[in-house]
This record gives sequence, structure tokens and C-alpha cells, in this order.
Amino acid sequence: MTKAARRRRTAVLISGRGSNMAALLAAAADPAYPAEIALVLSNRADAAGLARASAAEVSTAVVESRAFRGDREAFERAMEAELAHHGVELIALAGFLRVLTPGFVRRWEGRLVNIHPSLLPAFPGLDTHARALAAGVRLHGCTVHLVTPDVDEGPILAQAAVPVLPGDTAESLAARVLVQEHRIYPAALGWLAAGQVRLVEGRAEIAASTAAGGALLNPLPERPSLPRDAA
Ligand code: GRF
Repeated sequence: MTKAARRRRTAVLISGRGSNMAALLAAAADPAYPAEIALVLSNRADAAGLARASAAEVSTAVVESRAFRGDREAFERAMEAELAHHGVELIALAGFLRVLTPGFVRRWEGRLVNIHPSLLPAFPGLDTHARALAAGVRLHGCTVHLVTPDVDEGPILAQAAVPVLPGDTAESLAARVLVQEHRIYPAALGWLAAGQVRLVEGRAEIAASTAAGGALLNPLPERPSLPRDAA
């Protein structure tokens, strides 16, 4: 009998409601999933996601960023202590609202992923849904990427696109994107944990990945009518 591959011990870092964390926990509830969630760490004691993690019987920790009064290195040293204590090998940022120092990011290079609510490289930073509406794009979406010292710029692992619909608000658009976040984040973390991600010239290649053909068009063009003389 072949021994099952060891699951990678993963920390999910949150600051708020933790719906992506919940999607990762749900995926990791399957013993065949290549990552196990060893820790949910929040920089805020009032993050709603902490209660969800505890309910799922996952270890939680709080390292209050405010307590460090802007000393980011000291804050990260305290986080590193928690990560080491739980034997963490991979980190998934899931609505974690602190920018990490280049030193921290380099220490975790290739083992640190983030989900961003836009189709990067469009709309890095905050307020992505309002900015997508203001720009008038027809397609919007989300991206899972490896984290590099430049915010929202690392190698892309997965993306999902959704149409922007007439009458959309930032909230309705965010809700449509969030459904897709919950699909692509578990998939991308799974590839990373299974060792299926390879970096080639700064871009990520996923071994044995498949992509559905076809295209998402928005709005749909009129059904083309045959020119008269072609009939
Ligand atoms: C998500 O939209 C994620 O893309 C962004 O922050 C939000 C976190 O939501 N980075 P949740 O806490 O996972 O529900």
C-alpha cells in the first residue's frame, strides 16, 4: 500500500469575516486535500472568522497589530513565533489587512499566497469593485497569486472572471466575485501544497492543469444574421 503524501501544514491569516478561510477549511476537511489548516491567525481579536475557525476545531491565534504601534518587524516576529509553534509550512492570506515587510515575504517566498478581488494586473490595491465599475469594464473577477514584496504583483496561480451586469453596485459585484473566490482559492492552495507549481521566468506554471475552452463574452453580441447575398 502506498503511503499518502504528507499534508502541508498551512496557516490562514485573516482580519475579518473569513469567508475565504471557511472555503479553505471546507476543502481541507477532505483528508485527500494536500494542505491541512494548522492555524488561523488574525491581527484583530474581533475578526468574525476566528469564531468560525474555532467552531471547525481549528487552532486560532491573535497577534494584535495595533499593540505594536507601527513596529512592523516586531509584529511579524510575534506572528513568526505563532507560525513556528504550529509547525506552519505554507501561508494563505485571506482578507489579511496588513502589508507584510519585504523581509517577511522573502522568508516565505514561494510558500505565501494571497487572494485579490480583481483580475490582476488590473485594479491592484483597495476598492477594486467600485473601481471596476467606474472604469466600465465588462469583465471583473479575482486572482490567487504568490506574494512578492510588491503588493498584488506576484506570479498568478488562478483567476476567475465574472460579467459586470447592468445595475451592478460595488456590493452586488463583490458578491458575484466572492462566489468565484471560494472556488479558485482552495484549488490554487491545493496545487501549491501538492508541489504542482513551478516558477518559470517569474511566472507560475501548474503541472497537469487543464483549462476549459471557450470564452466569457459580455454583453453577448447579437445573433449574427447572414448577409443577404450569402444565402
Ligand atoms: C476578499 O474579497 C478577498 O479577495 C480580499 O478580502 C476579502 C476577504 O473576505 N483579499 P473574507 O474575509 O475572506 O470573507
